[in-house]
Amino acid sequence: MKRRITFTMIKPDAVADGNTGAILNRIEGAGFRIVAMKKTQLSKAEAEKFYGIHKDRPFFGELVEYMTSGPIVAAILEKENAVEDFRKLIGATDPAKAEEGTIRKMFAKSIAANAIHGSDSDENAVIESNFFFSERERY
Ligand code: PPS
Repeated sequence: MKRRITFTMIKPDAVADGNTGAILNRIEGAGFRIVAMKKTQLSKAEAEKFYGIHKDRPFFGELVEYMTSGPIVAAILEKENAVEDFRKLIGATDPAKAEEGTIRKMFAKSIAANAIHGSDSDENAVIESNFFFSERERY
């Protein structure tokens, strides 16, 4: 099978709690290769653009406020079947529903502060990766 990419962000709660290393360890341990990575803080405008597809959902304001509350770690990851396998690794959006052993079960605090993002399709993985990284930043 062709290797594919997904895009992830370790969210502000997990970064602030010092869980970046433990989460990256699980990601690499699950066979994902880090193609690009950076620590950065989203502006309000950037978060509104990144999550624009959710702009009419009731939690949009809370989501943007939370995602701009502190630094995040963004990364492009490569693996066969990357999008689907990564969604399995991170678990359900709501940590109360996430399976044992998933990253959200281990590190998320709530449906808002849920530790990590993973792209939901190959198409969005490319769009989201391009949002954060130039071609020169990928190895
Ligand atoms: S998903 O992964 O797109 O299927 O999940 P979805 O439920 O559609 O949620 C989309 C993103 O919104 C976040 N979210 C919330 N934030 C704050 N408050 C509430 N109640 C809430 N519900 C969902 C959720 O974490 C998703 O963020 P990402 O970064 O895509 O994981």
